Amino acid sequence: MTLRAEAHAKVNLHLGVGPLREDGFHELLTVFQSLSLRSVVELHSSPREDSPGPDTAVSSLEVTGLSARMVPTDSSNLAWRAVDAVARAVGVEPSDLPESARLRIQKGIPVAGGMAGGSADAAAALLLAREWLSESCGAPRLDDHALEELAAELGSDVPFTLRGGTMLGRGRGEKLTPVLSRGPWWWVLALADGGLSTPVAFRKLDDLRAAGNLPEPALDSSAVVQALASGDPRRLAEAIHNDLEPAALSVRPDLRRTLHCGAESGALAGIVSGSGPTCAFLCSDEAHAQAVAADIADAGVARLTLVASAPSGGAALLPADAD
Ligand code: C5P
Repeated sequence: MTLRAEAHAKVNLHLGVGPLREDGFHELLTVFQSLSLRSVVELHSSPREDSPGPDTAVSSLEVTGLSARMVPTDSSNLAWRAVDAVARAVGVEPSDLPESARLRIQKGIPVAGGMAGGSADAAAALLLAREWLSESCGAPRLDDHALEELAAELGSDVPFTLRGGTMLGRGRGEKLTPVLSRGPWWWVLALADGGLSTPVAFRKLDDLRAAGNLPEPALDSSAVVQALASGDPRRLAEAIHNDLEPAALSVRPDLRRTLHCGAESGALAGIVSGSGPTCAFLCSDEAHAQAVAADIADAGVARLTLVASAPSGGAALLPADAD
């Protein structure tokens, strides 16, 4: 059996970071939107003999596409963990399964870029595992609510990548409420060399705050919510905000040049995407986005520039032979 699923990148239009909680996470108030950039994950099942161990339903993982070499191909990969999480949740011991799963991820989302690339892989893998275990292995089918709970356990952005669209996120970012958005919106993504670890960016923010160097957390997202409903990119450009940006710029000062270059190129607004280091530039339409992307590429301040529209949908199963 071969199954395929896609899931999309995200950009945070508002990222307000509250205090550090006792569980090591920060309380967030965020508005995120899914982008047309996506990863496609395939699950090929075969007789169980080729599985590497009794504790996992996955026999191997192959990664191709954008920065594939930076992605782990063992059981630490979030997509691999997602498959085993579904098996455990439906009460299946991997060693009792008649089959095991080979995973193949085609990355179309920058790795460690602040765009939920790993979370998207996990969201797609959750859908694949539910389908495979119920259709091919005779296991009970997990309901949507249980799948969303597993998503939140795997990572703060996995529930959003599962649902997609435009959402307000609270808690760690896993408590979601849909937000009205009159798009489409056009973005240029400027990818940086290397990644930026999410915990490092959050820790840096705590340090900067402890030193008294930053304004109060931005825990009001109403400007972004109203701008999204208006459909006016200039209004949205004035409203977008990221509390993590000073921390990301402190760890990666080179990103200032990228942001400056986007502003010079006429982007309506530029922002570090999530915890970075990808920078996202809002443009007025597709032609404007192509022109800004070309300028940023010419200036040599990004490893790669991509144009994306938003919002896109959530994780979804694809026909097995789709592109
Ligand atoms: O949930 P996720 O695995 O993406 O989080 C990675 C790390 O990012 C956490 O261990 C934590 O250090 C930081 N984080 C945080 N507050 C959040 C989300 C993530 O401090 N709301």
